[in-house]
Amino acid sequence: MAFSLAKSTFLSNSTLYFPKNCIRSFGFFLPFSTFVAVDRFNGNKKRQSVVVSALEIGGVNISKDEIVRDDPTNNIPDTIFAKLGMQLHRRNQHPLGILKNAIYDYFDTNYPDKIDKFDDLCPIVSVKQNFDEVLVPADHVSRSYNDTYYVDSQTVLRCHTSAHQAELLRNGHTHFLVTGDVYRRDSIDSTHYPVFHQMEGVRVFAPNEWEGSGTDATSHAAEDLKKCLEGLARHLFGGVEMRWVDTYFPFTNPSFELEIYFQDQWMEVLGCGVTEQEILKRSGRTDNVAWAFGLGLERLAMVLFDIPDIRLFWSTDERFTSQFSSGRLGLKFKPFSKYPPCYKDMSFWISDSFTENNLCEVVRGIAGDLAEEVKLIDNFTNKKGMTSHCYRIAYRSMERSLTDKEINDLQWKVREQVENKLKVVLR
Ligand code: DAH
Repeated sequence: MAFSLAKSTFLSNSTLYFPKNCIRSFGFFLPFSTFVAVDRFNGNKKRQSVVVSALEIGGVNISKDEIVRDDPTNNIPDTIFAKLGMQLHRRNQHPLGILKNAIYDYFDTNYPDKIDKFDDLCPIVSVKQNFDEVLVPADHVSRSYNDTYYVDSQTVLRCHTSAHQAELLRNGHTHFLVTGDVYRRDSIDSTHYPVFHQMEGVRVFAPNEWEGSGTDATSHAAEDLKKCLEGLARHLFGGVEMRWVDTYFPFTNPSFELEIYFQDQWMEVLGCGVTEQEILKRSGRTDNVAWAFGLGLERLAMVLFDIPDIRLFWSTDERFTSQFSSGRLGLKFKPFSKYPPCYKDMSFWISDSFTENNLCEVVRGIAGDLAEEVKLIDNFTNKKGMTSHCYRIAYRSMERSLTDKEINDLQWKVREQVENKLKVVLR
């Protein structure tokens, strides 16, 4: 299940400012985009995969052996390492880049020459940055190995762009946007993927900005925040109905979510609030007040561009990539083909340590983006207290039809690894 940094579960989804030498780099260094090997042919279309053993992000050189290690404090699979450095949000022709730029336009119009923008901060951050500095409680579920990717016990792949807030505040920034890839161990379905993209926004007020307003600092910031984000929603969606919902985040108080009414339902589009005074105090800004927000770019882009499945953002098929162009927010994606999904069921007796996120990691490790959904369809406990789960796995390619043999082979591998790695007993 997804965790969110809201509500009681604290819920659902750099240098991070990593000092340039804080990840040791090996003697050799391969720029991540240069070494490309053809791994398969699909009809006439070449499908390519990037072979990476080292990469460079935000001025930091990172080698694979430092990120993927066979060590109990490390839970990063090859499939996740392969996504580091892809930075979809920095491609101006990609829906995520187009959306990022549209949000930039809104802020540049409303705060001319004020906003500092960061979109190349390293996603490998310390536990301190990701959790402690934004006041995430020590026992919060989001810190667990089940929910977060750990490089080692003190280093994670950021699970939210809020990981950069404190450091940027300390460095003196008062108006800033941080866009980046974020990582969460998660379930598999059309709106969840273990890597997605967020944008964080922070604005700091000096005392003279609220002193004349007739309201206290917190109310002033909350009011300004709501006005700013309502304007952003109108900029992106036009005249939509929206509403504010009170919520909880460890880093803000009060905290809100903005929902917009879209296709007959209310959809949460962002979390935000007035920054906890403790964060400002620790950044040497005791006299200030600030607001902050975080939004998920995929969620907004799926709605704005009519993109039906989150895996498509990673597609290199030109039938996907050629449909978008820089600066064109209104374009609607036309599905180029819809191949049928193939379903395979699997039942097993679970152990105490079983989690659905671990199952999904095994499935993604084998099937990659061919895994469309993993869904619990049956669950019972027998008289001896043994619990059985039955999962239905949907396999589907966005780009081609899959053969029976291919799917059966995948499913056998999944069964084998589920039994070996997850300590469950297949039925
Ligand atoms: N970090 C939150 C998440 O990933 C989103 C968020 C909420 C960011 C409120 C903020 C904020 O800056 O003020 O769920």
